[in-house]
Amino acid sequence: MHKKLFIPGPVEVHPDILAAMATPMVGHRTKEYAELHGRVTSRLKQLMFTDDRVFLATSSAFGVMEGAIRNLVGSRCANFCNGAFSDKWHDVTLRCGKQADAIRFDWGKPVTPEAVERALATGKYDSMTMIHNETSTGVMSPLAEIADVMKKFPEVMFIVDTVSSMSALKIPVKEMGIDSCIFGVQKAFALPPGLTVFSASEKALQRAAGMEGRGYYFDYIEFAANDDKDNTPSTPCISQIYAMDKQLDRIFAEGLETRWTRHRNLADYVRNWVMSRGFELFPAAAVCSQTLTCTRNTRGVDLAALKKKLGERGFAIDDGYGKIKGTTFRIAHMGDMTRGDLDGLFSAIIEILPELA
Ligand SMILES: Cc1ncc(COP(=O)(O)O)c(C=O)c1O
Repeated sequence: MHKKLFIPGPVEVHPDILAAMATPMVGHRTKEYAELHGRVTSRLKQLMFTDDRVFLATSSAFGVMEGAIRNLVGSRCANFCNGAFSDKWHDVTLRCGKQADAIRFDWGKPVTPEAVERALATGKYDSMTMIHNETSTGVMSPLAEIADVMKKFPEVMFIVDTVSSMSALKIPVKEMGIDSCIFGVQKAFALPPGLTVFSASEKALQRAAGMEGRGYYFDYIEFAANDDKDNTPSTPCISQIYAMDKQLDRIFAEGLETRWTRHRNLADYVRNWVMSRGFELFPAAAVCSQTLTCTRNTRGVDLAALKKKLGERGFAIDDGYGKIKGTTFRIAHMGDMTRGDLDGLFSAIIEILPELA
């Protein structure tokens, strides 16, 4: 039995997308592929509100997150860490042999503009990384305010993971001055995993061009040279790019504003529902994510049993990530999800909860 996915990625994939993935193959050094590539990247630019370069990488997000470090971190990086994925990005930065400091926040708290300003004002850093939407804790940091602070530090590369937020709300990459904005597609885009999209500002490309040891597979300069021909350095995941093409049709048919509103309404709906059932939100209400709700298990429910029983009824939720596994649970509300989908899940949870008491 297929379990309907309410985990924060991969999420449920629409049948039209699965069908698009079955499109017959073309060679990637052909006119047909270049047309597909050009159409997809130009619409992604529209969605990201940027005219910077936008590249397609055949990899999960962490491939490009590592690539960004190798291409863009020179003297020292400030890694802002407020959950499992941002902690891991710091570890990746060190594993790439770069000098870096983790600027830490308690889990459940956002990255703050004040902390960014304080760290960068030391003059120690030529680059920073942050995660807009920490999927492990369900916290969305105030990116616009942080972007305003970043304008005071034009020499510092602004590298942002929007893995679980891009397309669910407006993220104007160019206006925010983000030098490299990186996201996988298995979350708010509701595509199967394996494709990662990333932008590169002129400043980022200049920095990369002078960087030693940036490798090959995620070399921003190789990506730029191939982008001139609407292509990629290595063979791309063409089936997924067909899927992205189809999903962009669907996203623009829905309308960006309507999509953002749908995500905002779903987030309110889920938060209100969990609170009405006697649970508390893990983050403060003001910084709750628009794409998933991380809930504190204040009722002491056996979450492993809840997950198992939901699985038997055809639903998959997540019982917490990393050090908050078992004490929190996460429900995703992103991609193509509707209120009707959530109602199905909620009815099942209501049925199961008394069995666990
Ligand atoms: C915010 C964030 N960044 C990075 C990742 C890692 O992505 P991937 O597993 O595609 O490398 C995830 C995965 O859940 C994530 O949620």
